[in-house]
Amino acid sequence: MDSSRFDRRAFADTDHAAASPPSPAATLLMCEPAHFGVTYAINPWMDPAGWARDDHALAAAARREWTAYRRMLERLGAAIELIPAAPGLPDLVFTANAALVLDRTALLARFRHPERQGEEAHVAAMFRALQARGIVDHVFALPEGVVLEGAGDCVWDATRQLFWMGHGPRSSLAAREAVKEIFGVDVVALELADPRFYHMDTALSALPSGEVMYVPGAFTAAGRAALHERVAPALRIELGADDAARLAANTVAIGDTLVMSACSRRLRGELRERGYRVATTSLAAFQRSGGSAFCLTLRLDRKSARGEMRRTEAA
Ligand code: ARG
Repeated sequence: MDSSRFDRRAFADTDHAAASPPSPAATLLMCEPAHFGVTYAINPWMDPAGWARDDHALAAAARREWTAYRRMLERLGAAIELIPAAPGLPDLVFTANAALVLDRTALLARFRHPERQGEEAHVAAMFRALQARGIVDHVFALPEGVVLEGAGDCVWDATRQLFWMGHGPRSSLAAREAVKEIFGVDVVALELADPRFYHMDTALSALPSGEVMYVPGAFTAAGRAALHERVAPALRIELGADDAARLAANTVAIGDTLVMSACSRRLRGELRERGYRVATTSLAAFQRSGGSAFCLTLRLDRKSARGEMRRTEAA
């Protein structure tokens, strides 16, 4: 949609030096669960009949959980941008899937399943609005025929300056080239092998101090080998079956606090030892759709080291 990649004026305009208020710890795109529900099944967590039996109570629980989660993120210093909810698009709440954003550049998602393809136009309109407001500079679309379900399948690793990309159940391997070209960073593509962990963010999280927390069984042997090649043993946190099933890998880091729906005492202890605070807030209603904390957010303010450098030079 846009090809002038480096717009110096746009960078300079956002830098009002001393007078500006402190910037938020993170800027996150979220979507209120006004139309959330489990009305179809595109992953093994989803049981539309089970949801329908209790839909009013579950929808109310989802609204309560989402509101508590949003407040927790705000207390931790995050700023929240909202994409309007839309009837008939129950999974729009999982904004991690809307796009991939790095260095003020967005690559809009394309969905595998028709059930979610209706979100694409809605998300494109939102990003045009974010561009008009100067929150992102550039908005790109994927090449024809290539599927990539946003940050849900492309997890940024700030320590290694690369994306961990999941492919197979949802995103196509061909998306790797598009991501490399648009963002100019390395992309390590790992094939996802367990239908319960159908997006990369359900299986892997790159923590701020360099650890990679992951579900070993979610990957093929080749995928695990590729991961081991890049992550030293001391920095690997392997999730047990219990934490994997709670979607503990689906966590959002705000500073040194890791926000997640739930985790075992053992995992909490290990994360504390490594210097993190763990904040839990139940997102059980969303787990019925196969999603949790990370899925419900999309970070709009991620910078790569190169992006940070360009920004300093431009200022
Ligand atoms: N029901 C949604 C789907 O199957 C859940 C998406 C969760 N999002 C995520 N980034 N893992 O597409």
